[in-house]
Amino acid sequence: MSAPAAVIRGLGGALPERVVTNHHLSALMDTSDEWIRRRTGIAERRHSSETETTSALATVAAQRALASAGADSAGLLMVATSTPDKVCPATAPKVAANLGLRGVAAYDVSAVCSGFVYALATASWAISSGSVDSALVIGADTFTRLLDPTDRATSVIFGDGAGAAYLTAGKAEEPGTILASTLHSDGTGEELIQVPRRAGAFFEMQGKEVFSQAVSAMSDSVQTVLARAGWTANDVDSLIAHQANVRILKTVASVTGIPGSKAEIHLDKVGNTSAASIPLAMTNAGTKGHRNPGDKVVLTAFGGGTTWGAIAMTWPSMSVIDPH
Ligand code: COA
Repeated sequence: MSAPAAVIRGLGGALPERVVTNHHLSALMDTSDEWIRRRTGIAERRHSSETETTSALATVAAQRALASAGADSAGLLMVATSTPDKVCPATAPKVAANLGLRGVAAYDVSAVCSGFVYALATASWAISSGSVDSALVIGADTFTRLLDPTDRATSVIFGDGAGAAYLTAGKAEEPGTILASTLHSDGTGEELIQVPRRAGAFFEMQGKEVFSQAVSAMSDSVQTVLARAGWTANDVDSLIAHQANVRILKTVASVTGIPGSKAEIHLDKVGNTSAASIPLAMTNAGTKGHRNPGDKVVLTAFGGGTTWGAIAMTWPSMSVIDPH
C-alpha cells in the first residue's frame, strides 16, 4: 500500500480588532503613507490588545479551520510562533485545551516568519509516515508587542494575527495535497532578525540584508519544490509567499519565472504577520474566491534564524470564513 498523502481540508484566520493605518503611524513617527505604500505595499495592519494574545488568536483561527473542514478533533497540534504567551510552557498545549483537545500531542515550532511552512511540512511528514491521521497547523504571532514604537523601519512593517490549516490523511490525487517540501536554515545569520535576551530589548532587523537574502532563499526553495513536484513556473496558478514586502514578492516571482500576477498579495491589509502570514494569505485567497480546487500552489517563506523553505500543493476543496 502506498503512503498516505497529507491533504488540507480546511483553513481559518483571526485578526485583532484594532486597525492601525499608515496615517496613524505618520502621526507618531517620521514616515508617510506614500513612503510605506511605495517601499512595502502595506496600507494598514492590526495591533493586538492585552486580551488578544497569541494563544487567543491561534484558538480562533484553529476553530475556524476546524469549522471549514467540518472536523472537531486532531491527532497533532502545532503552533508556529516566535511570540508565545510565555517563555515556557509552549503555547500549543493551551490552544489545544481551549479547543477541548486535552491529551493531543501539542508543541510550538519556532522558526519566526518561516514557522508555518516548517510546521506544515513536518505535519505532512507525520501524516505521510502513518504516525497521525490528522493535524492542526497554526501560525500565530503578536510581534507588535516587541517593536520599538520609535523605530520606523520595523513599526511600519509588522502586524499581528493567526492562521490555521487542518489536514488529514488522504490520497495524492485529492485537491489540497502537499506534494513536495523543502526546509533550510543558516544560523550564521542569526543577528539579521532578533530579539536579544536582555531587559527591555526590542525586535531588531537589518532590513536591506534581509531583503536580499529573502529573495534568493525563497527563489531557490521555490525552484526546488517545482522540480520535485514536476511542475514548471508556467504551471503555477498561485505563489503564496511570506507577506513581508510587495517588492520581495514580485522579485521572487520574476526570478523564478512565475508571472507576477500569480503572486498572492495580502500584506496591504495586514502587514507582515510573521508565522501567520501564509495561512492568513491562504484564507484570504479562499474567501475572495481567488482559487479553485486542484489549482497548483507554491508556498514559500524566509525568516529569522535564518530559516526558509517552500511547499508545492494543490488547492483544497473547502469554504472558509473571512477573518477581516
Ligand atoms: N518612513 C520613511 N523613511 C524611512 C522609513 C519609513 N518607515 N524607514 C526607513 N526610511 C528611510 C531610511 O532612513 C533611509 O533614509 P536615508 O536614505 O536618508 O538614510 C531610506 O528610507 C531608505 O532606507 P532603507 O532601509 O534603504 O529602505 P529600504 O528600501 O531597504 O526599505 C525596508 C526598508 C525595511 C522596508 C526593506 O528593507 C524591507 O522590506 N526589508 C525586508 C524586511 C523583511 O522582509 N522582513 C521580514 C523578513 S522575515
